[in-house]
Amino acid sequence: MNAPAYPAPRPAVPGPDRGTFLRDVVEGLGYPQKTIPAKYFYDLEGSRLFDEITRLPEYYPTRTELSILRRYGTEVMAEVPAGSAVVEFGAGSTEKIRVLLEALPDVAAYVPVDVSGDFLEAQADALRADRPGLRVVPVVGDFTREMTLPPEVAGLPLLGFFPGSTIGNFEPATARSLLTRFRDLLGPGALLVLGVDLVKDDAVLNAAYDDAAGVTARFNLNLLARINRELGADFLLERFRHKAFFNRSRSRIEMHLESLSAQTVRIGDHVVQFAPGETIHTENSYKYTPARFEALASEAGWTVRRVLTDDGRRFAMFVLRA
Ligand SMILES: C[S@@+](CC[C@H](N)C(=O)[O-])C[C@H]1O[C@@H](n2cnc3c(N)ncnc32)[C@H](O)[C@@H]1O
Repeated sequence: MNAPAYPAPRPAVPGPDRGTFLRDVVEGLGYPQKTIPAKYFYDLEGSRLFDEITRLPEYYPTRTELSILRRYGTEVMAEVPAGSAVVEFGAGSTEKIRVLLEALPDVAAYVPVDVSGDFLEAQADALRADRPGLRVVPVVGDFTREMTLPPEVAGLPLLGFFPGSTIGNFEPATARSLLTRFRDLLGPGALLVLGVDLVKDDAVLNAAYDDAAGVTARFNLNLLARINRELGADFLLERFRHKAFFNRSRSRIEMHLESLSAQTVRIGDHVVQFAPGETIHTENSYKYTPARFEALASEAGWTVRRVLTDDGRRFAMFVLRA
């Protein structure tokens, strides 16, 4: 048998196995405010739908972040030593790393980390095909848990990349500990380039998370389809609706799935009751002011080197040094 051309993505940390998934869902649906951790959005279909969201006219974050990367990439990357490895947390599609790599030609390896294994593998294959000289070492796993980097990057200078404002999906206290964890993982002197969505008008924010074409609604409801498929549940998707709004007092977009009637849902051996109008809170997306995020990054032990924004100050890229 021929050896595979590339190593399979390695599970550096335990993936979301069925037992953990079931436990998290049942536990979350047992709280007074029902909730499901947002990381479970990302099965193959969830990742595909998220990619579709990034191209919607209402979804300004991706376009804006890319414009900042294109404008300042070369200048920022000048600080990165040749022969570095880039570790991307919550990589998703390769669109942003491709732009970053244009500004960083001498990179030795790229380590995309993501829970969405099949999507990650397909994206890694596409990048290898286009950049045959680049060593691509995907890691399937949950970056909120203890993780180790693959041996291929041992001893290399590291650049962390955390775009997409994924940091906003965490409660600020959790975001702070995650940034501390990344600092410990990347080591002293490492740079971390990360994208943060900024506070702005309610109307712009609300539209970005409730688009006219209904793609974000499909993304939200896909969570129930995934639970049905992987955990043997019987959610009727047409009995729930997508709901998203900016909660200004908490400075976050909240996404919910609202039950349209009184109903009972089975998840394996578990039974969950819904009242009409009751919601499952599926995601938060915290919006920061540059000053508030700077304080959070400093508390996590990072030195803020640059804060780069677009002309409309919709989105910021932070360049941090450990
Ligand atoms: C908001 S999307 C951002 C995707 C991409 N980085 C971008 O900038 O458009 C979040 C990504 O992080 C991944 N993700 C979410 N939670 C994760 C976790 N706990 N561990 C690893 N990956 C995670 C998802 O699968 C998804 O690809």
